[in-house]
Amino acid sequence: MNPLYRIYCRVYQKILYIASAFLSFREPTLLVGLNSNQRILSILQENGLKRMLLATDAFLATSEPFIRIRQQLETSGIQVTLFSDTLPNPSIQQIETVCSMYRKHDCQGLIAYGGGSVIDLAKVVAAASSNPSTPIRKMRGLLKIRHKLPLLIAIPTTAGTGSEATVAAVVTDEDTKEKYAINDPKLIPKVAILDPINVQGMPFNLAATTGLDALTHAIEAYIGSANTPKTKRMAVSAIKTIFTVLVDSCQRPDQIDLRSQMQLAAYQAGVAFTRAYVGNIHALAHQLGGFYHFPHGLANAILLPVVLRYYGKSVHKKLAGLNSILYPEHTKLSLFEQAEHFISAIQTLNNQLKIPEKVLDRIQKADIPIMASRAFCEANPLYPVPKLFTTGDFMAIYREIM
Ligand SMILES: [Fe+2]
Repeated sequence: MNPLYRIYCRVYQKILYIASAFLSFREPTLLVGLNSNQRILSILQENGLKRMLLATDAFLATSEPFIRIRQQLETSGIQVTLFSDTLPNPSIQQIETVCSMYRKHDCQGLIAYGGGSVIDLAKVVAAASSNPSTPIRKMRGLLKIRHKLPLLIAIPTTAGTGSEATVAAVVTDEDTKEKYAINDPKLIPKVAILDPINVQGMPFNLAATTGLDALTHAIEAYIGSANTPKTKRMAVSAIKTIFTVLVDSCQRPDQIDLRSQMQLAAYQAGVAFTRAYVGNIHALAHQLGGFYHFPHGLANAILLPVVLRYYGKSVHKKLAGLNSILYPEHTKLSLFEQAEHFISAIQTLNNQLKIPEKVLDRIQKADIPIMASRAFCEANPLYPVPKLFTTGDFMAIYREIM
C-alpha cells in the first residue's frame, strides 16, 4: 500500500475517533426479559402514538409472539399498517415501497419485529420518511441524515446483528449488486425489546450463525483502534458470554435463560461495534452477501479465523489479552501462542456449530477482483483495523476460503 495513503487512512480514523466523542451514541431504552413484548402498548401511549407501521417477514408474521403483539395493538385501538414481506438483505426498491405505505397510511412510528434485515429496513424507512428530500442512495456513508426520525421500536428475533443498538443500516442496491451501510446516530432505535420468547424458535443453524456474527462484531471492535473503555467492556462481556453459552443455547432452544444471555451478548456487541466499528472481516463478508446472497453470519464465521491469522503480529497482543480472559491458565505462554490458541478456540467453536471452513463453489473466480476492490473501498479509510489491507490482501483471502 502506498505509504501516503496509509497515513491518510490512519489520520482519517483518528479525526473520526476524536469527532465521535462529540456525537450522541445514546443507547436505546432497553426492555429485557420474558413478557417484555407486552410493554409496547405503554410505550405508544406514553408517546401519544396511534398509527404504527409494523414490519416483519413472511415467516415471522405467522409466529405466535408476533401474532400476539399484533393482536394486542389492534385490540387496543392502534391503527396497524402491516408490512410482512421483508426479504433478506433489503433492497432500496423494497424500502421505497414500504416508505410509500408509511406515507399513505400517515404512520407516526415503526415497530420492527425480525432479524437484522427487518430492523435495517425499518431504520431506513424511518430515515426516508422524515427526510423526503434525501434519496436513499444519497444516505450512504456517514452522517447524511438531517432530520430526527420517528419513534422506532426494534424487537430482534435473532441474537446476532445487534442492529437494535447500532447507528448503521445495511442496504442492497440491486442495480449495482452492492451492499453498503448508512451510518448515523439518528438511526439508533429509541427502544429495543429483548424478550427471549422472540428467539426461542430459532433453529440451530440460525442461532449458530447469528451468534457468530455477534462474536465477529465484538472481536472486530475489540482489535480495532477506536475503542473507549465502554466499548472494550461491552466487547469483552459479549465474547465471554458467547464462548460460554452459544453452543448450549443452539443445542437446547428450550433453555430460555441461555437464549436470553445470547440476546444480551448480541446487544452488547452491537453497542461495542457501533462506536468502535467492525473491520476487514465485515468488508469481505458484505461483498459475499451482495454478490451471492451468502448469509452474513455464516460468511463472518468462515472468515473470522482466516482473517485473524492473516493479521499476524498486528493482533497478537490483543488476541492474547482475550485468550487470557477466557483461559487465565495460559498467561505464561508467549503472545503468539496465546493468540494462536484464541484463534484455535474460534475454530473449535465453529466446528461445534457445524460451520464449514470454506465457501467452496459459491465464489466465482472472475468476481474476485471486483469484490476485493469493493471490500477495499468499504474498509478504507473508515475502519480502524489493526492492519490495513490492500486489494491484493482481500483477493488472497477470498481465494483462501474458496
Ligand atoms: Fe455483522
